[in-house]
Amino acid sequence: MRTPVIAGNWKMYKTGGESAAFVKEFLPMVAGVKGVEIVLAPPFPWLGLVASLTAGKKIGVASQNVHFAPEGAYTGEVSPAMVKDVGARYAIIGHSERRQYFAETDDSVNRKVKAVLAAGLVPILCLGETLAEREAGKTFEVAGRQLRAGLEGIAAPDGTKVVVAYEPVWAIGTGKTATPGQAQEVHAFLRKTLAELWGSGAADAVRILYGGSVKPENIAALMANADIDGALVGGASLKPATFAAIVKFK
Ligand code: 13P
Repeated sequence: MRTPVIAGNWKMYKTGGESAAFVKEFLPMVAGVKGVEIVLAPPFPWLGLVASLTAGKKIGVASQNVHFAPEGAYTGEVSPAMVKDVGARYAIIGHSERRQYFAETDDSVNRKVKAVLAAGLVPILCLGETLAEREAGKTFEVAGRQLRAGLEGIAAPDGTKVVVAYEPVWAIGTGKTATPGQAQEVHAFLRKTLAELWGSGAADAVRILYGGSVKPENIAALMANADIDGALVGGASLKPATFAAIVKFK
């Protein structure tokens, strides 16, 4: 059985005060929730703050990026070990906004996934096609390439710790969610690709999240699908009540 993961990606939103206020309101709302891994991904400066405010509350903290080197002369960058040191347990890697605006490539994404695993953190490997790629009938080709490239050189069982997030670019921040059928079809394809890489037992252990305009209104229909194991939520993770409603999808 795969434990679902509901992760909130705050992107470049929230001050430290707003982050602390979110956690204070959110904790009692999800206190009784069982069988779901809840993850919050605040901006870098608040990782330690959110990790300390959620300590012992079964809520994981994720960075939104890392550098792939353990340390070095890389001004402005943060290593996986540093993220771990402030109490985070996950790192989002290869988000489409990083691929689009910060020149991330399949190769840098792969190096980051490896570095995150080596540091003992859980990578959340993001991938997904653009609208033009979908309209050109290239969804599976793109998603398959990004998955294989992101996991290049990584073997099971270590690899099964990786959480995959399918985020079609055309559904991010647009209010245009993939239908549960569209998402399930890509998730099943991703799991089949994982089985080709690592065998079906290992593929069955990997959590594959959907991301792109997830809201309280559509989470249950998405989660009803066999290969959808959770969500990576952007806009709807910024308000405690809305994110709590998504966490409590059951
Ligand atoms: P939205 O939920 O705002 O569409 O963002 C999705 C996302 O990019 C999560 O990483």
